[in-house]
Amino acid sequence: MTKTVRFITENFGKYDPNSIDSYLSIDGFSAVKKALAMSSSEIIDLAKTASVRGRGGAAYDMGRKWAQAASVPGDQKVVICNADEGEPCTFKDRSILSKDPFRLIEGMIIAGYTVGAQNGYIYLREEYRHLRPLIKNAITESMERGYLGDNILGTGFSFHIHLYSGAGAYVCGEGSTLIESIEGKSGRPRIKPPFIKECGLFQLPTLVNNVETLAIAAAFIQHGVEDYMRYGTPSSPGTKIISLAGNVKKPGAYEIPFGITLREIIYDIGGGISDDHELKLFQLGGASGKIGPASIIDTPFTYDDLAKVGLVVGSGGILVVDDRTRVIDFLKSIQDFFIHESCGKCTPCREGNRQIAKIMDRFVKGCPKPDDLHTAERFANIMSNCAFCGLGETAQSALLSAIKYFPEEFGLMEVAANEKC
Ligand SMILES: Cc1cc2nc3c(=O)[nH]c(=O)nc-3n(C[C@H](O)[C@H](O)[C@H](O)COP(=O)(O)O)c2cc1C
Ligand code: SF4
Repeated sequence: MTKTVRFITENFGKYDPNSIDSYLSIDGFSAVKKALAMSSSEIIDLAKTASVRGRGGAAYDMGRKWAQAASVPGDQKVVICNADEGEPCTFKDRSILSKDPFRLIEGMIIAGYTVGAQNGYIYLREEYRHLRPLIKNAITESMERGYLGDNILGTGFSFHIHLYSGAGAYVCGEGSTLIESIEGKSGRPRIKPPFIKECGLFQLPTLVNNVETLAIAAAFIQHGVEDYMRYGTPSSPGTKIISLAGNVKKPGAYEIPFGITLREIIYDIGGGISDDHELKLFQLGGASGKIGPASIIDTPFTYDDLAKVGLVVGSGGILVVDDRTRVIDFLKSIQDFFIHESCGKCTPCREGNRQIAKIMDRFVKGCPKPDDLHTAERFANIMSNCAFCGLGETAQSALLSAIKYFPEEFGLMEVAANEKC
C-alpha cells in the first residue's frame, strides 16, 4: 500500500509548468478566483481552521500569522515567499518551484489579497538559478492573462510579484536576514523589535511565508479545508512534503499524511537502508535539527509525537544515517557547516562554533581531554540560549541530542583517549 498522498503535490506531472494554458486546462487559478470572491477575514478563518504550521521550519501557525499581518495598519504591505531552502537535506520547495510554479503564484496572490499587500517577492536561493526562467515565465504569463498585476480579473485588487536571487548564504533564509539581502545589504539578521510584520522590507509591514506554506494555502482554498483535513491526525492535520535523503534506497521529496511512523517513511517509502545496512540514526529538520536513534523509529511523524521524543518536524528534512558512519564524524561535518555559515555578527555563534569544532576534532582523533564533553555541552547550551538568531540557537541541536541518545559514542572515545593519547 502506498503511504504517500497527493494534495499539495496533486498537480505534479499533470501540466507543463512552462505554460499557463496547460495550467488553466487543469483548473488552474480557480483558487485565486475563489479567494477574490471572499473577504479577507473569511480566508483567515479558513487558514485558522486548517491549522497549517509554517513549513519553513519554525512551525508558526499560518492562520495566526496572516491575521496579524492583516491587522497591522498600512496602505503598503509586502508578501515574501521564502524560497531560500538552504537547510542541508531539504529540497521539497524545489519540487514545488520546478513542478508547480503557478500554484505558488496563486498562494502569493491569495496571501497578498488577505493581508492587504500590493507587492510580493520570491527570494530564490542562488543554487536554484536554473529555475529562474521557469518562475519568470510563470510570472509574465500570469500578468499577461490578468491573474497578476493591476486590477486582477477586474476585482480592483492589484498585486505584483518580483523575483530575487540570494547569494548562497544559509543565514539569508532567516526572515530579517532575507530582507536585508533583498535590500542589497550583507546577510546579517536584524535586531527585533521592530518585528518584520510591522517594519520589514523597505520598512513596510511584511509577511514572510515558506514556498510550501503558500502552496498549501492555494490548495485548500481550491479544494476546501475539509479535503486537506481528511489527512493527518487531529492535532497535526493535513500533509507534509518531506525530503528523504542519506542512506536510503529511494531518496526523494514525498508528500505524506501526518501520523505515519518514521519506520513507514524510511522502510516503506524510502525502501529501507542502502546496501541493507543497519539504521544508526536519523536527523529531522536539516543540519539544525536533532538526531534520534533507531530505537524510536516507531514514533509517528506529527508535531506532538516528535516533540515527546525531543525531535521536531522542522523543514521536513529526514536524513538517514546507517552503521557505517560514526556519530562523532557526523557531528563534525555539521559543525564544519555551521562554522562556514555563521555570519559572525554575535560572539556565541561565531566563537562557540569554532571552540566546539576544536573539541570535536579531538573526539574524531580519539584524543579528547577529560572535560571536553562537559565543555562542549556547556558551550552548546550557551549558544542555544544566547545566540542572536536562529542559526546559532539551533546549530548545536545535533550535538545536544547526540549526547542524550548516543552518550556511549563519546564515552568510548574517552576510554580510547586514555589508552592512546
Ligand atoms: C538560519 C535560518 C535559516 C532559515 N532558512 C529558511 C529557508 O531556507 N526557508 C524558509 O522558508 N524558512 C527558513 N527559515 C525560517 C524563516 O525565518 C521563517 O520562519 C519562515 O520563512 C516563515 O515561513 P513559514 O511561516 O511559512 O514557515 C530559516 C530560519 C533560520 C533561523
Ligand atoms: S547566531 Fe549570530 S553569528 Fe550566528 S548567524 Fe546568527 S547573528 Fe550571525
